[in-house]
Amino acid sequence: MEPISNNSVSVSAVGFDVAQTAAFLRRYQFIHRGLMRALSGWMIATPRYEDKYAMTYHLWDHAQHAFAIRERLKELRGGHPDSNIEPLLFRVVDEVVHASSTSEFVAGAYLELTGALLKSYRWYLQRANRSANAPEIQLFRRIVPELEAHKNWAREFLAGFDNEQVARWREYIACLMDEAGGLNTPNERRKRGQQPAPPNSHRFERPRTIAVDERLQRGGLLSLDDRRKLSYEQERTEQFKVYFNELYAAAILASILYDASVSDVPFEFLFDVAHQCWDEIRHSEFGSSRLSQLGLQPQHYDPIVYEQIESLPFLHRFCHLTLNLEVYFMARKRPRVLQYKEHGDKESMVLADVDWSDEINHVRYGKKWIAYFLEKDARSPEDLKNEIAQHIAQNGTGIEPPF
Ligand SMILES: [Fe+2]
Ligand SMILES: [Fe+2]
Repeated sequence: MEPISNNSVSVSAVGFDVAQTAAFLRRYQFIHRGLMRALSGWMIATPRYEDKYAMTYHLWDHAQHAFAIRERLKELRGGHPDSNIEPLLFRVVDEVVHASSTSEFVAGAYLELTGALLKSYRWYLQRANRSANAPEIQLFRRIVPELEAHKNWAREFLAGFDNEQVARWREYIACLMDEAGGLNTPNERRKRGQQPAPPNSHRFERPRTIAVDERLQRGGLLSLDDRRKLSYEQERTEQFKVYFNELYAAAILASILYDASVSDVPFEFLFDVAHQCWDEIRHSEFGSSRLSQLGLQPQHYDPIVYEQIESLPFLHRFCHLTLNLEVYFMARKRPRVLQYKEHGDKESMVLADVDWSDEINHVRYGKKWIAYFLEKDARSPEDLKNEIAQHIAQNGTGIEPPF
């Protein structure tokens, strides 16, 4: 592995002109965006919650990388970032999601796609002019260690699954990337050759429920009223089980990101949804980590809210989460922080306090983006809420979540 240090940038390198740098940046941001989408689909589909956590942290890293690259493109004479991508590169990003298992997906997405990014960033850094290309040098030096951490996670993940099937899928993605010319030769566009054949006919579909492994049983979460009847310690335990279940909120946001990424939406919307998805997975982590401190492991989850709305348009899913549910739950936030504080329970108080702050942001995202999407729409947010209520009623369940 080549170290990224001041010494890796040559004093005498000619460097890259604006057109060359812009061509690299457009390709990089396209791969980061593609990985945001692929990871959002697979965080729902992968069964172990620890892997969902890792993938969602990575998804948010990619969102920040794409954002920073797009900001730099705006400063350069860079052209439209999305209209300049070669069809062969589209195909690599399209295909990576169609792995038939989490391990195939991790091998293709992390070892090949993230691997290609790392290779290209290092290649650029070695040839960059230290003052003319300083903005890119600074940017890539921040991105590279994060991507190295993703790849290390993938290597550890794959240690137990190094089989023939995974190797074949990885080879297929590598082949597609090679056909697209890799990432550091954007000016040597390839002619389309014979299309490499996928090793299986599996096509990924965004799941209709949240995949979990055998450790988790469906249901078993108490309502707020039932939790209030318990002793302080029991109530706290039940409350952190409910935090753990925020897996469902993260999955709703991942589904929005997955679907909206192929629609004509501003990147800033995807960026906020990625942020919120990461917040919700952190809230689930609040649950699993606090339960573990209390000597317990998560055993229950309830995907009902995801299942109720996953077939609605992403606009309705976003509206239901941010303007129905998060508004509905908000009244519980301050009393919970005060309750933990009164009991001198700093560990629980810190988590509840940060959760409350995050949720205020989520409602703000909801108001901002629902207003944006309804700008030229005859419907109001109330009309959307009525459509959601009707849909949920037709599916035979109440609008209020059971926890
Ligand atoms: Fe949350
Ligand atoms: Fe939230």
